[in-house]
Parts: sequence; structure tokens; C-alpha cells
Amino acid sequence: MKRNILITGGAGFIGSHVVRLFVNKYPDYNIVNLDLLTYAGNLANLKDVEGRPNYKFVKADIADYDAVRRIMAEHEIDGVIHLAAESHVDRSIKDPFTFARTNVMGTLALLQAARERWESLPEKYEGKLFYHISTDEVYGALELTHPGGTTAPFSTKASAGGHEAYGTEFFLETTNYNPHSPYSASKASSDHFVRAYHDTYGMPVVVTNCSNNYGPYQFPEKLIPLFVNNIRHGKPLPVYGKGENVRDWLYVEDHARAIDLIFHKGRIAETYNIGGFNEWKNIDLIRVLIRTVDRLLGNPEGHSDHLITYVTDRAGHDLRYAIDSRKLQRELGWEPSLQFEEGIEKTVRWYLDNQDWMDRITSGEYEKYYEEMYSGR
Ligand code: NAD
Ligand code: TYD
Repeated sequence: MKRNILITGGAGFIGSHVVRLFVNKYPDYNIVNLDLLTYAGNLANLKDVEGRPNYKFVKADIADYDAVRRIMAEHEIDGVIHLAAESHVDRSIKDPFTFARTNVMGTLALLQAARERWESLPEKYEGKLFYHISTDEVYGALELTHPGGTTAPFSTKASAGGHEAYGTEFFLETTNYNPHSPYSASKASSDHFVRAYHDTYGMPVVVTNCSNNYGPYQFPEKLIPLFVNNIRHGKPLPVYGKGENVRDWLYVEDHARAIDLIFHKGRIAETYNIGGFNEWKNIDLIRVLIRTVDRLLGNPEGHSDHLITYVTDRAGHDLRYAIDSRKLQRELGWEPSLQFEEGIEKTVRWYLDNQDWMDRITSGEYEKYYEEMYSGR
């Protein structure tokens, strides 16, 4: 079947993997990538699909209602996969307004433009879908009831081998929202708007909340690419607080596969949590990164351990995230395809092999910003 799908934020980290998957897998679909190319957007992430007949890039701001309306009409969009967002917690602490503008007003502009277009058609919402990509951070933070780790009650391929849980509670689709950072508050607000468009106007929507992603093409202000690059250059690794915070990590292509499945088979108006039951304490993950980079660069074991530098904790730093993704596994049969150790090896290799990509990003503007942000820590 032919479809015209608008993917927002396709030049970013996760968006580029979703665009690549859809362009390659669905030659009959027209994929329109709408992205403003902020500091986090990079068309180099999509070099391999550029020029494909079923792919088009449009530079626009999701908060520009008129532009979004025009793009929806021009490309006869019947499905939206919405990933565009300001996505970094530390930036949101410095500049919350940008987060409200893009994440809240931008999502609202997209919803309203989709509503206006779809309601004007004879078939209205038939065959349409607004798919909103969100985060587990909207649920707030879980307790660290087992700081030393405990046997996890569930596991997946991602978590197979040495898997631990650091508490007994997990985020469920029914968990109340309790965001703590301006980033998560803005994402929570956008999630509410999406659900309100279903409840008020009957728009077919689906929302997914995913855990921390890792993999190639992630902007190097997030933990994994930042630390891989710093280890390579012998720069300090700024560990917030005691490094005791826990995150639940999923390989980005497994997230993209879940999005594909849910876009085609998910139930309208449902929420699906996406995660691999793969909890790691930051400091343990950082030690894995150091070991992997040192091994791949031929350095002796322990060579880069001294780079670990404990710095002032992030304000309001959420202690533990842990997603329960059993609904998605049960209803749609999704499972992560990669074990964490394989995923980390693949990811570290990618950053080391694609130093050009990293160097272009970490020069100029970004470097200046980074110095300002972290000086004095
Ligand atoms: P990212 O920061 O790498 O990419 C965001 C993209 O959105 C960039 O290409 C940027 O240019 C674009 N963008 C920003 N503002 C825009 C605007 N006003 N108009 C148009 N485009 C704009 O983010 P990511 O990590 O790929 O995250 C993508 C989505 O997934 C976000 O909605 C995020 O909340 C969600 N998410 C991320 C993670 C994660 O671990 N990275 C986990 C769960 C959910
Ligand atoms: P990050 O990649 O920013 O993702 P998020 O805040 O959305 O979970 O950070 C992952 C974890 O790593 C988080 O607990 C904060 C911590 N962290 C550091 O300790 N040092 C750093 O320099 C960064 C960027 C993150």
C-alpha cells in the first residue's frame, strides 16, 4: 500500500534510524523528513538514503504552524511519526523556554495541522495515524531499593547475561506522570496534548515511551558518545554525583523496529512502553566503555581509568529509570535483537571508525557551548 509519511526530527539520532529503516523497507512509501537542523540535526546521519526516490528532506520548524500545514498538504501526508524535539536534560536546565516552544508548541502545531488537513478530507481520519515518540522520563524517577542489584524478574535478549535490577518497581503504561526536569515536563505536556487530540477530536494517535537509547549517530553531549570521544582523546569523564544513577539502555535500531511495528500494528489510542529490561548504573556502564575503547585502541587494561572525574551532580537528577515493556512484547511480539555487550561493542566501534563525523560536530559552535556549560564543574 502507498503511504505518505511525515517523519519529524529525522536528521537527529533516533529519527535518522527510523528514516533509514522506512526508506529501505518500504519502497512504496513516500518518506518526508521534516527537520529544522538545530545543533542536534545533521544530514550527514542520512547520507546513505539521500537521493532515494522515496525520500525527501524539508527544512522547517515544527512550531511554524503555516509551514507545517503547507508541508502536510503538499505531500498529502497520511501518517506522522513525530520525533522532533529538544532532547537533552542538561540543556533544558539552562534554557527551559526553548524546550516548551519546540516540544509543547511544536507538537501542538503538528497536531492542529494534521487535524485541519485530515478533517477536510472526505475519508477524514480513516487510514491516518499520528504517532508520538516520547520518553520514560515523563514517569519521574524510581527508587533504588537494591543499590547492589538484584536478580531481575524479567529479561530480554538485550539484558541476557549478568542482568540486574536496582529496584522492584518498573514504569508501566499506567504509571502516573511525574516529570522532574524541564525536558521531561515538556515531553509530558506534549504527550497530554496528543492524547487530548484523540479524546476531543477523535484523531487516531499512538504514544510510545522509550528508555535511554544508544548507538551510532547520537549527538556527543549524551553520555555514551561523549565518553567514547573523551576516552579516545584522553579527556576527563565528568561523572555526575557518585555515578550511582541507573538508566535502562536500548539499542537504537531495536527502538526503530518497535516504532515500525507499532506504526503498522499498534492499537489506536494506546500507549506502549519500549525498553529491554537492561538497567545499568552509570559508573558500571562507564567502566564498560573505558574497557571497550581501551581494548579497541590497543591500550593496556586500566589505561584510561584515571579519566573518571566525579563532578557536581545534575540538578534534580532522576535516580533510576526502568521500563516494563511486557505489553509490547505480549501484544505485538517485539523483542530487542541485540544483547547489550554486542550493542556496546558495535557502538564504540562505530564512533571510533567514524571520527570525521565526530570531529565535525565537536568543533566550532558545539565546542564553545560545551566549554561554557561545563567550565567550573
Ligand atoms: P536528537 O536531539 O538527536 O534529535 C532531535 C531532532 O529534532 C534534531 O534533528 C533536530 O534538528 C530536530 N528538531 C529540534 N527542534 C526542532 C524544531 N523546532 N523543528 C523541527 N525539527 C527540530 O533527539 P533523539 O535522541 O533522536 O530523540 C528523538 C525523540 O525521541 C525525541 O522526541 C525524544 O524525546 C525521544 N526519546 C529519546 C530517547 C533517547 O535516549 N535519545 C529516549 C526516549 C525518547
Ligand atoms: P544522558 O545521556 O544525558 O541521558 P538522560 O539524562 O536522558 O538519562 O545521561 C545518562 C546518564 O549519565 C544520566 O544519569 C546523567 C549521566 N551523565 C553523567 O554522569 N555525565 C555526563 O557528562 C552526562 C552527559 C551524563
